[in-house]
Amino acid sequence: MRVKDKQYRTIWMDKTIIRLINQMLLPHKFEIVDVKKLQELKLAINNMTIRGAGAIGAAGAFGIAQAAMLSNDKDFFDNLTDAATQLRKTRPTAQNLFTGIDFVLNALKKESKVSLARETAVRRANLYADMDASACKKIGEFGAGLIKDNAKVSTHCNAGWLAFVDWGSALSPVYYAVKEQNKNLFVYVDETRPRCQGANLTAWELVNENIPHLIIADNVTGALMYQKKIDIVFVGADRIARNGDIANKIGTYSSAVVAHDNNIPFYVAAPVSTIDANCPSGDNIPIEERDENEILYVQGKDDAGAISRVRISPEGSHALNIGFDVTPAKYITGIITEMGIYPASYDGVTQILSKVKKV
Ligand code: MRU
Repeated sequence: MRVKDKQYRTIWMDKTIIRLINQMLLPHKFEIVDVKKLQELKLAINNMTIRGAGAIGAAGAFGIAQAAMLSNDKDFFDNLTDAATQLRKTRPTAQNLFTGIDFVLNALKKESKVSLARETAVRRANLYADMDASACKKIGEFGAGLIKDNAKVSTHCNAGWLAFVDWGSALSPVYYAVKEQNKNLFVYVDETRPRCQGANLTAWELVNENIPHLIIADNVTGALMYQKKIDIVFVGADRIARNGDIANKIGTYSSAVVAHDNNIPFYVAAPVSTIDANCPSGDNIPIEERDENEILYVQGKDDAGAISRVRISPEGSHALNIGFDVTPAKYITGIITEMGIYPASYDGVTQILSKVKKV
């Protein structure tokens, strides 16, 4: 995607350094962070300098590649296993993190020579990132067919290109419809408390792409659906269970139920790397709980241009900060993947998995 006339990916690797767009500072400041070692990468994933299922999947893949580049020969395989264990603990819900780590790690099992394993690790991590970007573009192509000219689209959180390596999942159909099919669209962006990925990141992407939009408080979406002001909903997913249930940013479930009650198509867009074939249903998806301060404080830019954090709740109040919710398959019109659009059901997920070629 382009930022100020320059082509960027959300995350990439340059020799032994992982470079990523700092999502903690957007939309106020565009900055690239250099991640030089595992400790820094773990922190970046955990504090959401890099976030979004696909982007942290790539971070996991690059993290193993970086560990391979930096490890000595003697403890090479032990060091990589240890790096994988540490990375897996950074965030629990997005399946892509685990997919990305395993995509690199499993390929190394065949290598007996460390020098070859190092090369393989870097090649696999770059391949993972390329596959994420092309899967997301394909999602755009399939999803754009669902959008009528002049449609009003609703989306939650940020499942745009910042949440992946490029293109995004839920926003990819929007980008494809506008750029490749010249459709006029309007997007309602859920603010997405507490971290405001909608207001900060999705809105920033849409400003960059010149796509008309309005940011709405999370509790407005239902009213707009009731008033027939929303034609279609696209959300992402952090994990898709075997039966078609999905976990996505907290608030997705409410949006899905209200969309269902108002006969508004509700699509989940996600690459195959989001499917957890070993997870029978949404009830088995681990749900992240984050620090209460993300609710008690908000971050923004003051009139003097400084980015700062202010407390919005009384001293003495505590907060419950659940990061994700589960949307049962029955509320989902379809799952858009790079393999096509399938029903959200056990059979639908089986069909998607049957199309996947082992790389
Ligand atoms: O906590 P985050 O920002 O990493 O959450 C992930 C998300 O942005 C959403 O849940 C998104 O819709 C799915 S990830 C593309």
